Amino acid sequence: MKKLLVAGLSLVLVCSMLFVGCGKKEDANNIPETIKVGTNAEFPPFEYKNDKGEYDGFDMAIMQEVCKRIGSEMKIENMEFKSLVGAMESKNLDVIAAGMTVTDERKEAVDFTDSYYTSNQYIIVKKESKVKKLSDLNGKKIGVQEGTTGDFIASGESKTVKDATVKRYKKGADAVVALRQGGVDAVVIDANPAKEYVKNNKGLKLIKDESSKEQYVFAVQKGNEKLAKEINKQLKAIKADGTYDKLVKKYIGN
Ligand code: ARG
Repeated sequence: MKKLLVAGLSLVLVCSMLFVGCGKKEDANNIPETIKVGTNAEFPPFEYKNDKGEYDGFDMAIMQEVCKRIGSEMKIENMEFKSLVGAMESKNLDVIAAGMTVTDERKEAVDFTDSYYTSNQYIIVKKESKVKKLSDLNGKKIGVQEGTTGDFIASGESKTVKDATVKRYKKGADAVVALRQGGVDAVVIDANPAKEYVKNNKGLKLIKDESSKEQYVFAVQKGNEKLAKEINKQLKAIKADGTYDKLVKKYIGN
Protein backbone atom coordinates (compact mmCIF):
# COMPACT_ATOMS: atom_id res chain seq x y z
CA MET A 1 0.00 0.00 0.00
CA LYS A 2 2.78 2.37 1.06
CA LYS A 3 4.76 1.51 -2.08
CA LEU A 4 1.76 2.27 -4.19
CA LEU A 5 1.34 5.62 -2.50
CA VAL A 6 5.01 6.53 -3.09
CA ALA A 7 4.74 5.44 -6.71
CA GLY A 8 1.57 7.45 -7.12
CA LEU A 9 3.11 10.52 -5.54
CA SER A 10 6.22 10.34 -7.70
CA LEU A 11 4.04 10.03 -10.78
CA VAL A 12 2.19 13.17 -9.75
CA LEU A 13 5.51 14.90 -9.14
CA VAL A 14 6.96 13.89 -12.51
CA CYS A 15 3.77 14.92 -14.26
CA SER A 16 3.67 18.31 -12.60
CA MET A 17 7.33 18.87 -13.45
CA LEU A 18 6.61 18.05 -17.06
CA PHE A 19 3.68 20.37 -16.93
CA VAL A 20 5.75 23.24 -15.53
CA GLY A 21 8.37 22.56 -18.16
CA CYS A 22 5.79 22.71 -20.92
CA GLY A 23 4.19 25.82 -19.49
CA LYS A 24 7.50 27.66 -19.52
CA LYS A 25 8.24 26.63 -23.07
CA GLU A 26 4.84 27.81 -24.18
CA ASP A 27 5.28 31.22 -22.58
CA ALA A 28 8.50 31.78 -24.44
CA ASN A 29 7.14 30.68 -27.79
CA ASN A 30 3.60 31.92 -27.91
CA ILE A 31 2.23 35.37 -28.35
CA PRO A 32 0.26 36.12 -25.17
CA GLU A 33 -3.53 36.21 -25.40
CA THR A 34 -3.41 39.54 -23.64
CA ILE A 35 -0.54 41.78 -24.64
CA LYS A 36 0.46 44.13 -21.83
CA VAL A 37 1.37 47.44 -23.43
CA GLY A 38 3.23 49.96 -21.29
CA THR A 39 2.90 53.65 -22.03
CA ASN A 40 3.10 57.10 -20.51
CA ALA A 41 -0.10 58.80 -21.63
CA GLU A 42 1.37 62.30 -21.34
CA PHE A 43 2.66 62.66 -24.86
CA PRO A 44 0.14 63.99 -27.36
CA PRO A 45 -0.51 63.16 -30.17
CA PHE A 46 1.11 59.75 -29.58
CA GLU A 47 -0.51 58.87 -26.24
CA TYR A 48 -2.85 60.76 -23.95
CA LYS A 49 -6.19 60.38 -22.24
CA ASN A 50 -9.04 61.71 -24.35
CA ASP A 51 -12.11 63.64 -23.15
CA LYS A 52 -13.79 60.39 -22.18
CA GLY A 53 -10.78 59.45 -20.07
CA GLU A 54 -9.75 56.67 -22.47
CA TYR A 55 -6.20 56.05 -23.63
CA ASP A 56 -5.89 57.43 -27.11
CA GLY A 57 -3.31 58.62 -29.64
CA PHE A 58 -1.30 57.43 -32.60
CA ASP A 59 0.75 54.80 -30.75
CA MET A 60 -2.33 53.42 -29.00
CA ALA A 61 -4.20 53.17 -32.31
CA ILE A 62 -1.29 51.47 -34.10
CA MET A 63 -0.75 48.99 -31.26
CA GLN A 64 -4.49 48.31 -31.04
CA GLU A 65 -4.48 47.50 -34.75
CA VAL A 66 -1.37 45.30 -34.39
CA CYS A 67 -2.90 43.39 -31.47
CA LYS A 68 -6.18 42.93 -33.34
CA ARG A 69 -4.37 41.49 -36.35
CA ILE A 70 -2.27 39.21 -34.13
CA GLY A 71 -5.50 38.05 -32.46
CA SER A 72 -4.62 39.23 -28.95
CA GLU A 73 -6.25 41.58 -26.48
CA MET A 74 -4.37 44.76 -25.63
CA LYS A 75 -4.08 45.85 -22.01
CA ILE A 76 -2.61 49.30 -21.37
CA GLU A 77 -0.40 49.91 -18.35
CA ASN A 78 0.12 53.63 -17.83
CA MET A 79 3.18 54.71 -15.84
CA GLU A 80 5.96 57.28 -15.67
CA PHE A 81 8.08 57.29 -18.80
CA LYS A 82 11.27 56.64 -16.89
CA SER A 83 9.78 53.46 -15.34
CA LEU A 84 8.87 51.75 -18.63
CA VAL A 85 12.16 50.01 -19.42
CA GLY A 86 12.52 48.72 -15.85
CA ALA A 87 8.95 47.39 -15.89
CA MET A 88 9.78 45.54 -19.08
CA GLU A 89 13.01 44.15 -17.63
CA SER A 90 11.05 42.75 -14.70
CA LYS A 91 8.69 41.17 -17.25
CA ASN A 92 5.63 43.19 -16.28
CA LEU A 93 5.18 44.42 -19.85
CA ASP A 94 5.15 42.70 -23.23
CA VAL A 95 5.42 45.87 -25.30
CA ILE A 96 6.34 49.51 -24.76
CA ALA A 97 4.40 51.92 -26.98
CA ALA A 98 5.42 55.38 -25.81
CA GLY A 99 7.01 57.33 -28.63
CA MET A 100 10.22 55.72 -27.50
CA THR A 101 13.37 56.58 -29.43
CA VAL A 102 15.99 53.92 -30.17
CA THR A 103 19.11 54.55 -28.12
CA ASP A 104 22.15 52.31 -27.61
CA GLU A 105 21.67 52.34 -23.87
CA ARG A 106 18.04 51.21 -24.07
CA LYS A 107 19.07 48.50 -26.54
CA GLU A 108 21.04 46.87 -23.75
CA ALA A 109 17.88 46.42 -21.70
CA VAL A 110 15.15 45.71 -24.26
CA ASP A 111 14.74 44.73 -27.91
CA PHE A 112 13.16 47.00 -30.46
CA THR A 113 10.87 46.58 -33.45
CA ASP A 114 11.35 48.39 -36.75
CA SER A 115 10.87 52.14 -36.62
CA TYR A 116 7.28 53.35 -37.03
CA TYR A 117 7.91 57.11 -36.97
CA THR A 118 10.77 59.58 -37.41
CA SER A 119 10.99 62.63 -35.21
CA ASN A 120 13.43 65.18 -33.82
CA GLN A 121 13.74 67.51 -30.85
CA TYR A 122 12.27 70.99 -30.59
CA ILE A 123 13.16 73.81 -28.25
CA ILE A 124 10.21 75.68 -26.75
CA VAL A 125 10.95 79.20 -25.53
CA LYS A 126 9.02 82.37 -24.75
CA LYS A 127 8.25 84.54 -27.78
CA GLU A 128 10.77 87.19 -26.73
CA SER A 129 13.66 84.70 -26.22
CA LYS A 130 16.83 85.07 -28.30
CA VAL A 131 17.56 81.34 -28.32
CA LYS A 132 17.95 80.03 -31.89
CA LYS A 133 19.65 76.64 -31.49
CA LEU A 134 20.55 74.03 -28.90
CA SER A 135 23.99 75.48 -28.16
CA ASP A 136 22.31 78.78 -27.18
CA LEU A 137 21.04 76.85 -24.14
CA ASN A 138 24.53 76.48 -22.66
CA GLY A 139 24.42 77.42 -18.99
CA LYS A 140 20.64 77.99 -19.09
CA LYS A 141 17.82 76.39 -17.12
CA ILE A 142 16.14 73.70 -19.21
CA GLY A 143 12.91 71.86 -18.45
CA VAL A 144 12.49 68.29 -19.73
CA GLN A 145 10.42 65.18 -19.19
CA GLU A 146 12.51 62.92 -16.98
CA GLY A 147 14.32 60.05 -18.69
CA THR A 148 13.60 61.20 -22.24
CA THR A 149 16.00 61.98 -25.06
CA GLY A 150 15.28 65.68 -24.40
CA ASP A 151 16.61 65.08 -20.87
CA PHE A 152 19.74 63.38 -22.24
CA ILE A 153 20.45 66.25 -24.66
CA ALA A 154 19.86 68.94 -22.02
CA SER A 155 22.09 67.00 -19.63
CA GLY A 156 24.96 67.26 -22.11
CA GLU A 157 25.02 63.72 -23.46
CA SER A 158 25.36 64.81 -27.09
CA LYS A 159 27.70 67.68 -26.18
CA THR A 160 25.53 70.21 -28.03
CA VAL A 161 24.32 71.64 -24.72
CA LYS A 162 26.84 72.30 -21.97
CA ASP A 163 26.57 73.24 -18.30
CA ALA A 164 22.83 73.67 -18.30
CA THR A 165 20.75 73.28 -15.16
CA VAL A 166 18.26 70.57 -16.01
CA LYS A 167 14.87 70.53 -14.30
CA ARG A 168 13.17 67.18 -14.71
CA TYR A 169 9.38 66.87 -14.72
CA LYS A 170 7.15 63.80 -14.77
CA LYS A 171 5.14 65.30 -17.65
CA GLY A 172 6.28 67.39 -20.58
CA ALA A 173 3.24 69.59 -19.98
CA ASP A 174 4.56 70.47 -16.51
CA ALA A 175 7.87 71.58 -18.02
CA VAL A 176 5.90 73.91 -20.30
CA VAL A 177 3.99 75.34 -17.33
CA ALA A 178 7.35 76.03 -15.66
CA LEU A 179 8.53 77.80 -18.80
CA ARG A 180 5.47 80.04 -18.83
CA GLN A 181 5.96 80.86 -15.17
CA GLY A 182 9.65 81.67 -15.66
CA GLY A 183 11.02 78.66 -13.76
CA VAL A 184 13.04 77.52 -16.79
CA ASP A 185 14.41 79.31 -19.88
CA ALA A 186 13.50 76.59 -22.38
CA VAL A 187 11.95 73.15 -22.78
CA VAL A 188 13.59 70.48 -24.95
CA ILE A 189 11.07 67.89 -26.12
CA ASP A 190 10.02 65.85 -29.16
CA ALA A 191 8.60 67.76 -32.13
CA ASN A 192 4.94 66.71 -32.11
CA PRO A 193 4.18 67.17 -28.41
CA ALA A 194 6.07 70.49 -28.62
CA LYS A 195 3.69 71.62 -31.37
CA GLU A 196 0.70 70.54 -29.28
CA TYR A 197 1.91 72.47 -26.24
CA VAL A 198 2.65 75.65 -28.16
CA LYS A 199 -0.65 75.51 -30.00
CA ASN A 200 -2.35 76.13 -26.67
CA ASN A 201 0.14 78.71 -25.37
CA LYS A 202 0.18 82.00 -27.23
CA GLY A 203 3.29 83.45 -25.56
CA LEU A 204 5.57 80.59 -26.69
CA LYS A 205 7.46 79.74 -29.86
CA LEU A 206 9.12 76.67 -31.34
CA ILE A 207 12.64 76.12 -32.63
CA LYS A 208 13.37 72.99 -34.59
CA ASP A 209 16.64 71.20 -33.92
CA GLU A 210 17.57 69.65 -37.26
CA SER A 211 20.51 67.69 -35.83
CA SER A 212 18.49 65.39 -33.59
CA LYS A 213 16.84 62.83 -35.85
CA GLU A 214 15.15 60.11 -33.81
CA GLN A 215 13.42 56.85 -34.69
CA TYR A 216 10.37 55.80 -32.68
CA VAL A 217 10.12 52.09 -32.08
CA PHE A 218 8.12 49.64 -30.00
CA ALA A 219 10.06 47.71 -27.37
CA VAL A 220 9.71 44.04 -26.45
CA GLN A 221 11.43 42.02 -23.74
CA LYS A 222 15.05 41.18 -24.46
CA GLY A 223 15.08 38.00 -26.57
CA ASN A 224 11.39 38.04 -27.47
CA GLU A 225 12.11 37.76 -31.18
CA LYS A 226 8.80 36.11 -31.84
CA LEU A 227 6.76 39.09 -30.70
CA ALA A 228 9.11 41.59 -32.35
CA LYS A 229 8.83 39.72 -35.65
CA GLU A 230 5.06 39.53 -35.40
CA ILE A 231 4.78 43.26 -34.67
CA ASN A 232 7.10 44.05 -37.59
CA LYS A 233 5.01 41.87 -39.88
CA GLN A 234 1.79 43.62 -38.86
CA LEU A 235 3.44 47.05 -39.11
CA LYS A 236 4.36 46.28 -42.70
CA ALA A 237 0.82 45.16 -43.43
CA ILE A 238 -0.65 48.26 -41.77
CA LYS A 239 1.60 50.44 -43.91
CA ALA A 240 0.87 48.51 -47.10
CA ASP A 241 -2.92 48.68 -46.84
CA GLY A 242 -3.19 52.39 -46.04
CA THR A 243 -4.14 52.02 -42.36
CA TYR A 244 -0.89 53.69 -41.28
CA ASP A 245 -1.49 56.77 -43.43
CA LYS A 246 -5.06 57.02 -42.20
CA LEU A 247 -3.87 57.02 -38.60
CA VAL A 248 -1.14 59.59 -39.35
CA LYS A 249 -3.82 61.83 -40.84
CA LYS A 250 -6.17 61.32 -37.90
CA TYR A 251 -3.67 61.92 -35.13
CA ILE A 252 -0.69 63.83 -36.50
CA GLY A 253 -1.80 65.66 -39.63
CA ASN A 254 0.98 66.44 -42.07
N1 ARG B 1 11.15 60.11 -27.76
C1 ARG B 1 11.56 60.46 -26.44
C2 ARG B 1 12.31 59.32 -25.80
O1 ARG B 1 12.25 58.21 -26.25
C3 ARG B 1 10.41 60.89 -25.56
C4 ARG B 1 9.31 59.91 -25.41
C5 ARG B 1 8.33 60.30 -24.33
N2 ARG B 1 7.16 59.49 -24.39
C6 ARG B 1 6.11 59.55 -23.56
N3 ARG B 1 5.11 58.76 -23.78
N4 ARG B 1 6.12 60.37 -22.55
O2 ARG B 1 12.99 59.49 -24.84
